[in-house]
Amino acid sequence: MTTAFSPPTGAQPGTAPPFDPALLASMASALFGALPGEQARAPGVQAPVNLAPAGSPLVSPAGFGPGVPGTPIPQGQVPGTNLVPASPTPVLSLAHRAPSLLPHAQAGNGLPDTVVTQLPAYEPRFGSGVLGVREASGASASEASRHSAAASASPFYFVSDSFGHPSAGGLPANAPVADYFAETPSLPASATALSNAPAAAPATTPTAAGVISSEPKYYFVDSVVLPNGYVTPAKPAPGATIPAAGSGQHPPFDVNAIRRDFPILQERVNGRQLVWFDNAATTQKPQSVIDRLAHFYAHENSNIHRAAHELAARATDAYESAREKLRAFINAPDVNEVIFVRGTTEAINLVAKSWGGQHVGEGDEIIVSHLEHHANIVPWQQLASSKGAKLRVIPVDDSGQVLLDEYAKLLNDRTKIVAVTQVSNALGTVVPVKEIVALAHRAGAVALVDGAQSVSHMRVDVQDIGADFFVFSGHKVFGPTGIGALWGKRSVLENMPPWQGGGNMIADVTFEKTVFQPIPNKFEAGTGNIADAVGLGAAIDYVNRVGIENIGRYEHELLVYGMQQLGAIPGVRLVGTAADKASVMSFVLAGYSTAEVGKALNEEGIAVRTGHHCAQPILRRMGLETTVRPSLAFYNTFDEVDRLVAVVRQLAAARPH
Ligand code: ALA
Repeated sequence: MTTAFSPPTGAQPGTAPPFDPALLASMASALFGALPGEQARAPGVQAPVNLAPAGSPLVSPAGFGPGVPGTPIPQGQVPGTNLVPASPTPVLSLAHRAPSLLPHAQAGNGLPDTVVTQLPAYEPRFGSGVLGVREASGASASEASRHSAAASASPFYFVSDSFGHPSAGGLPANAPVADYFAETPSLPASATALSNAPAAAPATTPTAAGVISSEPKYYFVDSVVLPNGYVTPAKPAPGATIPAAGSGQHPPFDVNAIRRDFPILQERVNGRQLVWFDNAATTQKPQSVIDRLAHFYAHENSNIHRAAHELAARATDAYESAREKLRAFINAPDVNEVIFVRGTTEAINLVAKSWGGQHVGEGDEIIVSHLEHHANIVPWQQLASSKGAKLRVIPVDDSGQVLLDEYAKLLNDRTKIVAVTQVSNALGTVVPVKEIVALAHRAGAVALVDGAQSVSHMRVDVQDIGADFFVFSGHKVFGPTGIGALWGKRSVLENMPPWQGGGNMIADVTFEKTVFQPIPNKFEAGTGNIADAVGLGAAIDYVNRVGIENIGRYEHELLVYGMQQLGAIPGVRLVGTAADKASVMSFVLAGYSTAEVGKALNEEGIAVRTGHHCAQPILRRMGLETTVRPSLAFYNTFDEVDRLVAVVRQLAAARPH
């Protein structure tokens, strides 16, 4: 990019090491390449070198001795442990909350292996192992003690069945809870109404409760005056659709504690601490999910359902227990209605191929909305074209909300299925799916809801929504990639043919005939993504511990703030301004391509997606081909929004419009 962009005022100077590691590596490469028997390496290729001689205790896996100032700490290694060759302690084992319970050898230098109580500031990856979200965060004291008693049966905090049950995520109705909001200063209505962004100016008058103080402050417990004068609201917006946990029952939301559970948030990009605003593309993973995957491969790995040994039983239990966690997470009535798939895309393809192949014929109609991700368009288009059916589209208004009246006009007795997203990935619109499903059913159609962008932001209750299918991806809800779920009503699933054939899904096979397993196995041919299903279960546990309502409330205030701040920048056009929104702050900046804005943000360590977001029809409806799309999660902060806004403001000022 050739813009006059420079770091915003107040930006921290970069923390470049005194030596350039690439230069050191290439010097070492030249040195070792010149030794007998060594070939010189191609220039520009990072050489796997060690500056310390082979066998020296100074050798580290990253190729640098630890005494070289400014060299990166090798990922996954404790600083200094490479001085003790007999005890290379990987971070994962230190980061377990119960590592000391495991049998282990003494460290070779005689040091106790629990010395890491004061963590080096430059190795933030430890944070999650020591601090972070308490396992009972969001739960009452009595629940906490129940958890710790139950958990004591296993040295692994994440293996206990007592974690992750939805009841662990919130306060019981009778829990004694302080009224956190008693001192909330009154805010202008515009401060919490998304539909008013960007017109509203930030509140600038500090109130008694909003005076900046050195005491720790928790958003949602207290209003906090940010450096720019904005007073963070401590109550949800009036009329907001973010589900409420029950007023007066909100446990403190300590975003800093939560952040310590996500090691990647401490990464540095271009000398700045990473700001992850690409949550609509994928979310980051808490240490408990990372640990759970490692534990599975270290202690449980086996194929499932079909062996006579202990590990098969452990793996099967872990996998099936994850299925139950998913069932509870979306309040499905029956665990066998939850089918593991690769993700949302595969789930929709399964329904289109199996249900659609059976029920959609020539002249039939399939309805989607204008907001859909390509994954909820293309499979239906393929089905329609193979069957001679028609795809019809629910239009949206200029804010990006679906027009229910127009939708009602599309329904008729040829409508076979209505497939809509619950939250738009490109605009953030929260779609009234319950109404859409009800109207579909009244017309005799079935309904599918795409929850890829909703499950991490709001409580999902598939029974309340009433759809026939609900689909989502694990990686958008802090779980691993390559795993997701299709939920379907038992009666609907049972009447659908399998879409793939193979092992695991059969009850009996002869050359004449195959008898299929009942659901869910009927739809899970072959060896599935077992470990990642288990990891997804751990992610659900994590979300439950924080509490999805707490997450929804916090994110909503962050979104309101971000939309106001961005929208107030000259030349910024917010794209997607529906009154009901979640997470997404798409925008374009006059005078800049979206790629230029994305690059400038990346230079400041801020990750956003730019482009069409796999949702070209809705962007074209808005008159655009691409947008810049910051998207929020509950580990993001007001300070991070300020960093984003500062960069965009600088860009805008450099090319005034
Ligand atoms: N669906 C993902 C997104 O919206 C990839 O970025």
